[in-house]
Amino acid sequence: MKPLFSPGADRKLRGIMVVVAAALVLAGTVAFAVARSDGTWGVGTPAAQPIPFSHAIHAGQIGLDCRFCHAGVETSANAGMPSAETCLGCHSQVWNVTAQFAPLETALTLGTPVTWASVHRLPEHVRFQHAAHIGAGLTCAQCHGPVETMARTVKAETQSMGWCLDCHRDAAPEAAARHAQLGVEISPLTSCSTCHR
Ligand code: HEC
Ligand code: HEC
Ligand code: HEC
Ligand code: HEC
Ligand code: HEC
Repeated sequence: MKPLFSPGADRKLRGIMVVVAAALVLAGTVAFAVARSDGTWGVGTPAAQPIPFSHAIHAGQIGLDCRFCHAGVETSANAGMPSAETCLGCHSQVWNVTAQFAPLETALTLGTPVTWASVHRLPEHVRFQHAAHIGAGLTCAQCHGPVETMARTVKAETQSMGWCLDCHRDAAPEAAARHAQLGVEISPLTSCSTCHR
C-alpha cells in the first residue's frame, strides 16, 4: 500500500515542527526578558510634574537634608511631601517667583497639597513602612539611588516582589536576632502577610 505521506513530506513536517518549537522557545524567552526588564517597571522614567522640581539643585547643590522635605520618613509609613509653605519659605522672597511656581500659590490659596506625581507608588495590596526600614539602619540611597543627583526624580529599583524578597531573605536572621534582644515580636520578613494586606 502506498504510504499516506511520502518520506519527503515527513521530513518537511519534522523540519517545520523543529522551527515552530524553536520559535516558541524564542518568543517565551523574549516575553520573559521584557517582563523582567527595568523598562517594564518604569525604572529610570520620570513623571510629568506640576512644577519642574530638581533634587539635583535642592538636595545636591544647596545640600538640603532629605528630612527637611520628607519629614515623616523616620516615624511613619509614608515619607511625606513638603507643603507649599516649605517651598515658599525660599521662593516667595529671595528668588523670583515665575509662572512655574503658580501651583504653589494655588495650593496655598485653596489649602490643598500640591499634586505631585509619584513614580514609586506600590499597588494597594502591598504594605510598606519607611520607619521600620530607616530604624533598621537602611539609607535612602539603598532603595532610591542617588536622588541628590537627579534633575528629574526617577525610580532606581524595580520595587518588584523579588526585589523586596531578595533583601528580606538576607536581612531576616539579623532582624529576628535584633528583635529578640529587644524582646519585641517581628513578623517573619518573608511571610506573605508581612507585606500583603
Ligand atoms: C526641597 C524639598 C526636597 C528635598 C530637600 C528632598 N526632596 Fe524628595 N521630593 C520633593 C518633591 C517636591 C518631590 C515630588 C516631585 C518629584 O518627584 O521630583 C519629591 C519626590 C521624592 C521621591 C519620589 C516620590 C514618589 O512618590 O515617587 C523620592 C524617592 C524622594 N523625593 C527622595 C528624596 C531623598 C532621598 C532626598 C535627600 C537626598 C530628598 N528627596 C530631598 C522635595 C524634596
Ligand atoms: C532652602 C531654600 C529653598 C527651598 C526650601 C526650596 N527651594 Fe527651590 N530653589 C532654591 C534655589 C537656591 C534655587 C536655584 C535658583 C537658581 O539657581 O536660579 C531653586 C530653584 C528652584 C526651581 C528652578 C529649577 C530650575 O531648573 O531652574 C524650581 C522650579 C524650584 N526651586 C522649586 C521648588 C519647590 C517646588 C520647592 C518645595 C518643594 C522648593 N523649590 C524649595 C532654593 C529653595
Ligand atoms: C527599604 C527601601 C526604602 C528605603 C530605605 C527608603 N525608601 Fe522611600 N520608598 C520606598 C518604597 C517601596 C516606596 C513606595 C511606598 C508606597 O507606595 O507605599 C517609597 C516611597 C517614598 C516616597 C514617596 C511616597 C511617600 O512615602 O511619601 C518618598 C518621598 C520617599 N520614599 C523618600 C525616602 C527617603 C527620604 C528615604 C531615606 C530617609 C527613603 N525613602 C528610604 C522604599 C524605600
Ligand atoms: C535593602 C533591604 C530591604 C528592602 C529592599 C526591603 N526591605 Fe522591608 N525590611 C528590611 C529590614 C531589614 C526589615 C526589618 C526591620 C526591623 O528590624 O524592624 C524590614 C521590614 C519590613 C516590614 C515589617 C515592618 C514591621 O514593623 O512589621 C515590611 C512590611 C516590609 N519590610 C516591607 C517591604 C516591602 C513591601 C519591600 C519592597 C517594596 C521591602 N520591604 C523592601 C529590609 C528591606
Ligand atoms: C517582602 C515583601 C513581600 C512578601 C514577603 C511577599 N510579597 Fe507579594 N508582592 C510584593 C510586592 C512589592 C508586590 C507588587 C509588585 C508590583 O509592583 O507589581 C507583590 C505582588 C504580589 C502579587 C501580585 C502579582 C502581580 O503580578 O501583580 C501576588 C499574587 C503576591 N505578591 C503574592 C504573594 C505571596 C503568595 C506571598 C507569600 C508566599 C508574597 N506575595 C510575599 C511584596 C511581597
